[in-house]
Amino acid sequence: MLNDRDRIFTNLYGFHSPGLEAARRRGAWDGTKVLIDKGADWIVNEIKASGLRGRGGAGFPTGLKWSFMPKKSDGRPSYLVVNADESEPGTCKDREIMRNDPHILVEGCLIASFAMHAHVCYIYIRGEYSLECERLETAIAEAYEAKLIGKDNVHGWPFDIYVHRGAGAYICGEETGLLESLEGKKGMPRLKPPFPANVGLYGCPTTVNNVESIAVAPAILRRGAAWFAAIGKPNNTGTKVFCVSGHVDRPCNVEEAMSITFRELIERHAGGVRGGFDNLLAVIPGGSSVPMVPAEQILDAALDFDTLKNLKSGLGTAAVIVMDKSTDIVRAVARLSYFYKHESCGQCTPCREGMGWIWRVITRMAEGRARKREIDMLLEVTTQIEGHTICGFGDGAVWPIQGLIRHFRHEIERRIDQYAANPHSEPVPMAAE
Ligand SMILES: Cc1cc2nc3c(=O)[nH]c(=O)nc-3n(C[C@H](O)[C@H](O)[C@H](O)COP(=O)(O)O)c2cc1C
Ligand code: SF4
Repeated sequence: MLNDRDRIFTNLYGFHSPGLEAARRRGAWDGTKVLIDKGADWIVNEIKASGLRGRGGAGFPTGLKWSFMPKKSDGRPSYLVVNADESEPGTCKDREIMRNDPHILVEGCLIASFAMHAHVCYIYIRGEYSLECERLETAIAEAYEAKLIGKDNVHGWPFDIYVHRGAGAYICGEETGLLESLEGKKGMPRLKPPFPANVGLYGCPTTVNNVESIAVAPAILRRGAAWFAAIGKPNNTGTKVFCVSGHVDRPCNVEEAMSITFRELIERHAGGVRGGFDNLLAVIPGGSSVPMVPAEQILDAALDFDTLKNLKSGLGTAAVIVMDKSTDIVRAVARLSYFYKHESCGQCTPCREGMGWIWRVITRMAEGRARKREIDMLLEVTTQIEGHTICGFGDGAVWPIQGLIRHFRHEIERRIDQYAANPHSEPVPMAAE
């Protein structure tokens, strides 16, 4: 279990004020100038040495990403863009950071921007996050007022932050869709390459990072890379905010050590699985876009990037969705497919057409109105989408289906047999209908 002294988010639950004075008492903005005076290269190297991997889903090493930014400008400005779109189902950690501890994000923006030679940072926040947006804007105003940021601030690095509100599209969380949206266009992802570090916002070098990735940076630099690297396991280091939802007694957000086991996380912080661990059916460990893991494989597994990858799933956003044996697992995945069908931006044919087709087929399967050979056909179609689209949405949209077929094919087949035996039974309507 994470020691209290190792916690970065000491106001995650909002027991204290989010304001500047209280944030300072908790350690924010402490010695920021000393860190900046150590230079951009030192900051990037410390973040690299800490082993921090991006908290937005893909787990790309943060220090390495920062090092891709040009050290010398070719005339174009560089930008930091903070991804606060947080629309992945089950994920609600950035919300708590912005609502209750916005100053550590603002401080992180300054430090990360300095490290990447950027004088301007945009925070793209999910449109529905009204209170969080207000709190963030208040924190930014306080930081300007105290001359912590701004053209002529005490840190000696001219720096401006702008907050931009999204309008409710999941795809605007994908980094290039986000950049398009920020530029005032439809949030349609761009082909890569070129990568944002070369051609990003307004055609300029840009790094897009998740809220949590940026918010942990000041603490890492203050306490040292070795401190962060000692928490968790090699290649899976540091603290992590987990969002636990579903069939547990106490759904929660909690900052824990990376690589905590599923059992310990749920026992200590979520009051256990409803009906006990024997009643667990499966878990989606990283937000809806990763494949589910059945109970027997997840119970004592470490929740981290590498372990979950070996289980053919992923840590994703660390949104742990717990499903007990009362769950209609096929319908649950059909509901996710409806979400992806609805949120596809429509640029790529496999994603646009495929997700509607998949949703229709899996919905029939949830009712048993299908043939067994269609299960393999469905699987085949998911492989035609996976890896064949402009952005990662296509992969994330089909992985839940692949996970279902991998672990619960027998359940789909059972329904098909049941329906064949009694074809006149009434299907129960889906929540989405
Ligand atoms: C469909 C889709 C939605 C995404 N939504 C988010 C999001 O809401 N927030 C986020 O930080 N990253 C999201 N990402 C990941 C971003 O594209 C990007 O990898 C991330 O912001 C990089 O930050 P990090 O390196 O700090 O993790 C999404 C990716 C995809 C494919
Ligand atoms: S994969 Fe889907 S969401 Fe991504 S660009 Fe293609 S159509 Fe749009």
